[in-house]
Amino acid sequence: MPGFRSNPLLRAIARKTRLERDDILQLLGAADAATDDAIRSCAYAVKTSEVARKVYFRGLAELGNICDKNCSYCGIRSSNREVERFQLTREEIVDAAIWAHQRRFGSIILQAGERSDSQYIGFVEGTLREIRLRTNGRLGITLSLGEQSAATYERWFAAGAHRYLLRIESSNEGLYANLHPSDHRFTARLRCLEALRVIGYQVGTGVLVGLPGQTLDDLADDLIFFRDNDVDMVSMGPYVVRSATPLGAIAENTPAARTRRLRLTLRMISVARILLRNVNITSTTALQALDPHGGELGLMAGANIVMPNVTPLQHHRHYVLYDGKPGVSETPEETLSRIETWVAHSGESIAYGEWGDPPHAKSRTGGRATVAG
Ligand code: 5AD
Ligand code: SF4
Repeated sequence: MPGFRSNPLLRAIARKTRLERDDILQLLGAADAATDDAIRSCAYAVKTSEVARKVYFRGLAELGNICDKNCSYCGIRSSNREVERFQLTREEIVDAAIWAHQRRFGSIILQAGERSDSQYIGFVEGTLREIRLRTNGRLGITLSLGEQSAATYERWFAAGAHRYLLRIESSNEGLYANLHPSDHRFTARLRCLEALRVIGYQVGTGVLVGLPGQTLDDLADDLIFFRDNDVDMVSMGPYVVRSATPLGAIAENTPAARTRRLRLTLRMISVARILLRNVNITSTTALQALDPHGGELGLMAGANIVMPNVTPLQHHRHYVLYDGKPGVSETPEETLSRIETWVAHSGESIAYGEWGDPPHAKSRTGGRATVAG
């Protein structure tokens, strides 16, 4: 990596023990190619020293696309009547988990549209217990199942989940309100993040990058939000247009706009790595929707987590949040071998058989939430 310290902005940043909002804004806004390189090199150096050049896999199981919510950007929003709704059976989910475990993934992530009916809550709880049983408690389990009551989060934690990902989507309350119908509450989401933390989950959050109306100031505040909330995991993806949605109908979708969103997301990953240091950061699948090399670029920018899709192939095309979802016609085997190839190209090693808890969480919980996988 070229010496980033020869860059005046990075030299000044390196001298500081705590970055201020203005520093973050400068890092986000720097447009010249030399500073772009220097920021990426700096983020990569931080990643190397804090979390090593290792990639942890999280097998992504898309449990179902039934959703009570109606986010204006999302392809499976409740009012989209074009979507054929599905729900995996317990057996399908457990099989996907076993598949990931047999391939020595450290953990899986269960993601779905948001549902909070009591039958569903019990279904997830029972499924978690079954996964724990069938993998001898050795497979880490992350949930990404949206806003739920603290009691539900507690039940799922007791059943074996130990990480939870709930994106704030945007920390700007006004922008959040514009993107969501009036029955969504920014404050409810904040309360959920707080409840998850109190219960003892490793907590992840994140935002969409490149939303219409979003400014660099908003993005700087998003990064400060992550720091203030002491998060363990960050998942940020570019906003990718889904044509059949209200936001998709008005958002710019030119090649230039897509490139801008890709670059801005990569910059956000780098600045998040420089700022938050020892957290886990995902190279999100949405990056690959904007560039076939998006996944690799995410790793080079400072990310260390990749989520290969382990959902049975026949359901992929019904879980389309944005246009151009990668791997929609691949089996989990095919997806895995494609991802292994590009990770190898990036020169990083895949940490098979390790949970990959972020050092940040270990220092906070004194190692309580960490069991080697
Ligand atoms: N582009 C990118 N990401 C999206 N999500 C939903 N719709 C889109 C889109 N059009 C993301 C949201 C949500 C996650 C499950 O998927 O950020 O938190
Ligand atoms: Fe539902 Fe999540 Fe899509 Fe919103 S982003 S409509 S909560 S699946």
